[in-house]
Amino acid sequence: MSTCHQPFDPGHLLYGGDWNPDQWPREVWREDVALMRKAHVNTVTVCPFSWASMEPREGHYEFGWLDDAIELLADAGIGFFLATPTASPPPWFTLAHPDALAVTPSGVQLRHGSRDTYAIAAPAYRKACRRISRLLAERYGKHPALRGWHVHNEYGTIDYGPHAERGFRHWLKDKYGDLDNLNDAWGTSFWSQRYGSWEEILPPVATQYLPNPGLVLDFRRYSSDEMRNAYLEQAEQIRAAGSTVPITTNFMLPDWNNLEQWSWAEDLDVISLDHYLDSTSHEAEAHVAYGSDLARSWSGGPWILMEQNATQIKLRGRALPKPPERTIRDSLGYIARGSQSCMFFQWRASTAGAEQWHSGMLPHAGVDSEGFRTVVQLGQILKRLDEVHLPPVDGPIVHADVAIVWHADGWWALQTPDLPSADIIYAKELRATHRALRRLGIATDFVAPGASLDSYRLLVVPCLYPMDEQTAAWISAFARTGGTVVVTYLSGLADSNMRVLPGGYPGRLRDLLGAYSEALCPLEPGVRHRLLSARGKPLDAVAWTEHVHLTHARSVYSYAEGPLAGLPAITWARAGAGSAWYVSAQLTRPSLQDLWCLILHDADVKPTVVGAAPLGIEAVVRRSRDADYLFLMHDGEIDVDVTAPGVDLMSGIDLSEGGLLRAGSCTVIRLQPNAAHAVSVAIHKPADDSTHLESDLNREYQ
Ligand code: GLA
Repeated sequence: MSTCHQPFDPGHLLYGGDWNPDQWPREVWREDVALMRKAHVNTVTVCPFSWASMEPREGHYEFGWLDDAIELLADAGIGFFLATPTASPPPWFTLAHPDALAVTPSGVQLRHGSRDTYAIAAPAYRKACRRISRLLAERYGKHPALRGWHVHNEYGTIDYGPHAERGFRHWLKDKYGDLDNLNDAWGTSFWSQRYGSWEEILPPVATQYLPNPGLVLDFRRYSSDEMRNAYLEQAEQIRAAGSTVPITTNFMLPDWNNLEQWSWAEDLDVISLDHYLDSTSHEAEAHVAYGSDLARSWSGGPWILMEQNATQIKLRGRALPKPPERTIRDSLGYIARGSQSCMFFQWRASTAGAEQWHSGMLPHAGVDSEGFRTVVQLGQILKRLDEVHLPPVDGPIVHADVAIVWHADGWWALQTPDLPSADIIYAKELRATHRALRRLGIATDFVAPGASLDSYRLLVVPCLYPMDEQTAAWISAFARTGGTVVVTYLSGLADSNMRVLPGGYPGRLRDLLGAYSEALCPLEPGVRHRLLSARGKPLDAVAWTEHVHLTHARSVYSYAEGPLAGLPAITWARAGAGSAWYVSAQLTRPSLQDLWCLILHDADVKPTVVGAAPLGIEAVVRRSRDADYLFLMHDGEIDVDVTAPGVDLMSGIDLSEGGLLRAGSCTVIRLQPNAAHAVSVAIHKPADDSTHLESDLNREYQ
């Protein structure tokens, strides 16, 4: 369905946030627009939840207020994404169509009172969504200030009610053709679950004990596809009304994931991401990098940061302050990794409603606040950086030698109940791998199984529990043609229907790895086992170990204590022209980093800028049409000198003779096109600061 095949080029770096004029009197709108101009805001997302204001009664539309709000924006030269409001059906709709409310696994039908309360497969809901999106597209689809469509908001509500039952059965018929195939795939002979008719199949609703894992995984796949169809219907209405601007919907990370993003990416004109930090430590910046690399990878190019939090980090029920330098540094972090925007939820902090304590670009305190001063400063910075938005003519926007396989199937599979350990969480595992590589200064992409790997030298396969034969063949082919593959525990143990592959784990990959495990040996909380090697530092395993045997691999690290003492823990095997590592243990954070030092050394994969990462400086090269831009984001604690063959866009200073990069700050240096390989940045730390550096690095590991 994707209609824009060019990399997304909005003409400028986009700056702004959600704007909800229907929540405010008109005099506030005028003040908003004046302050947006002051802050250099050039784009807002209009009204993602305003269905009740647009259609207060069924079939009775009020768009006059929206016309006026949009004209105010346009007159001020501010563009807008127009949201379709379908994430929040109005009260009249749910009263008229109670069947269109979502049902929980326990059979409780949710009532109106919040948002995102819809049964995605309910015909009445889908019809109403098509109608409102068509009307909006007919009215505003050709508006010159319209930058794009923001369909719905964060698709994600999973329904287990009668509409989902019907939709799931239909989806299963399409997938399996006949019931014998389905019964075989799910292994329904276990516990007398064999299905004799499609009508007997239910979503994974509350039941006495464990559900069938194949059914559980298929239901997650179905739910993603159902939401994707709902998205496509709205996109079709928008196109049918003649609107040609890009269409997107915002993905959300990291706590929950109900979408299979690779398939969705085929249907979005541009990927957009909402990203909220979940830590106040250095982990926050690791998370910025992780979310950005995912969004860029899903997109295959530039993408949009649709929402972030302006002045807070919400953590364990607290809204903790986000310091201004962090807001600026993190905003640049997204842009370094391909974002064409820096957008927030939301422009003005609400004073009423469920999110009245969520921060805004314009805080409750008003313009005389650190929050708003930061927003103005960030607007000025983005104007200076504007040229970076031009997409490269060819090649990736960020070059990476390392690809990490990421797939929602892995996420959902590890959420099925009663696996050997509930401690292994897919999102945490993927973040751990990415964090270790980033901390060593290595640029990474994420890839879908089956993607082209031509530009990569190293492929990581963390915890991809269900795996089909094609994926295993794809991984093996990469190694056999010269690549280095790193497979971790819990990858390839089952087929794509969650059936375990017998004969030694991981069944799908044991030939490639030259090693297999006869038993999985999770560890209890607090237990650590040492791993030793002649080749590297001692490592510590936690949470997961395995009883490994070698066939043609050799042991690089062995378990040094516990019941597995003396047995292989991390193995290496030649595989055709390449090689394959198997990591059978979950490692502590510092140990994982030490292991990656060894693997990267062997594979001869180098950091983007040698010497930056150990000082806590993140270096990312964003490629553009006319130049390459080196983003240096200083997340360490001591000021450093930087020498680079280019001009710092923030200050206009030529850095060939060097310049000071203060701790906590950033610089963006314009380099000659394709000169990234020749970049040499000298970072000198003043000698008397070495103790500070040590303490900074140590703290990160605690
Ligand atoms: C999400 C939503 C926003 C808002 C923010 C903050 O990302 O898209 O509407 O609710 O979270 O909570």
